Amino acid sequence: MTQSFAGQSALVCGGAGGLGGATARRMVELGMKVVVFEPDAAGADAYADELGAGAVAVAGDHNDDETVLRAIAKAKQIGEFRLAVNAAGTAINSPPTADASGNPHDMAVFREMMELHLFGPFNLSRLCAAAFASNEPDGDGARGLIVNTASTAAYDGQARQAAYSAAKSGIVGLTIAMARDLAAIGVRANAIAPGPILTPRLASAPDHIKAALTANVAFPKRFGHAEEYANLVEAMLRTPFLNGQTIRLDGALSTPLTTFA
Ligand SMILES: NC(=O)c1ccc[n+]([C@@H]2O[C@H](COP(=O)([O-])OP(=O)(O)OC[C@H]3O[C@@H](n4cnc5c(N)ncnc54)[C@H](O)[C@@H]3O)[C@@H](O)[C@H]2O)c1
Repeated sequence: MTQSFAGQSALVCGGAGGLGGATARRMVELGMKVVVFEPDAAGADAYADELGAGAVAVAGDHNDDETVLRAIAKAKQIGEFRLAVNAAGTAINSPPTADASGNPHDMAVFREMMELHLFGPFNLSRLCAAAFASNEPDGDGARGLIVNTASTAAYDGQARQAAYSAAKSGIVGLTIAMARDLAAIGVRANAIAPGPILTPRLASAPDHIKAALTANVAFPKRFGHAEEYANLVEAMLRTPFLNGQTIRLDGALSTPLTTFA
């Protein structure tokens, strides 16, 4: 059955980044209007321009209600707002829980990681879900979909990833809970847990780190492509019975006991 998304709109947080950028592009290809939401105003503008008439940029931060609400207002202005994708992030260098010299993990770094990778996605989700509540329900009673981004680190955290793994496990936990919360208003929530995907944040990594990241991917033995993440967002959109799940996208990766510091 061909499903049309023309007339609908999406908000993609981190929409000029690797995974978010591929998703924004795919949603435009599907006929949706897309808000590219990014802290870097120039980067957001440039990427929305590249995507053409189907995309607009809103500069902001997922922890800042005012800019998130501005992005939601824009999404409602350009279409029937039905999809929110949390694909923001940035690398934060984290210490071990305690080091050999007896220094404990800096709590400011832990809090920064939570703000970026857990609080921000939840903040954007709650505000988008509230906006979806007034949508006309479809034949299933559905009003919207939230897609979160976890990581294989949610299940298999590396050394020096205590904070990141905790945040990403939080995404897995909140996704199923949100799906049950939001059932009452016909809003679904799913998450994708990527393994190593070659996006700008990994493209600049040294070669030995890149080799280590793909060494334990079972098959296909390579980095994932951002378009494969976009495929999964599209599948979530097209598959209404899929709800509350976190799907690994990792080539059957098994994570060894190593550190990528
Ligand atoms: N690439 C991978 O291999 C991989 C693997 C597992 C999980 N992830 C997760 O996927 C998400 C996206 O990663 P990516 O590889 O596309 O990174 P990326 O750096 O290519 O893109 C992330 C985007 O998020 C934006 N951003 C940063 N802080 C923000 C904020 N406060 N509010 C809104 N936007 C913000 C950045 O400007 C950037 O454009 C992250 O949460 C990351 O942890 C990525």
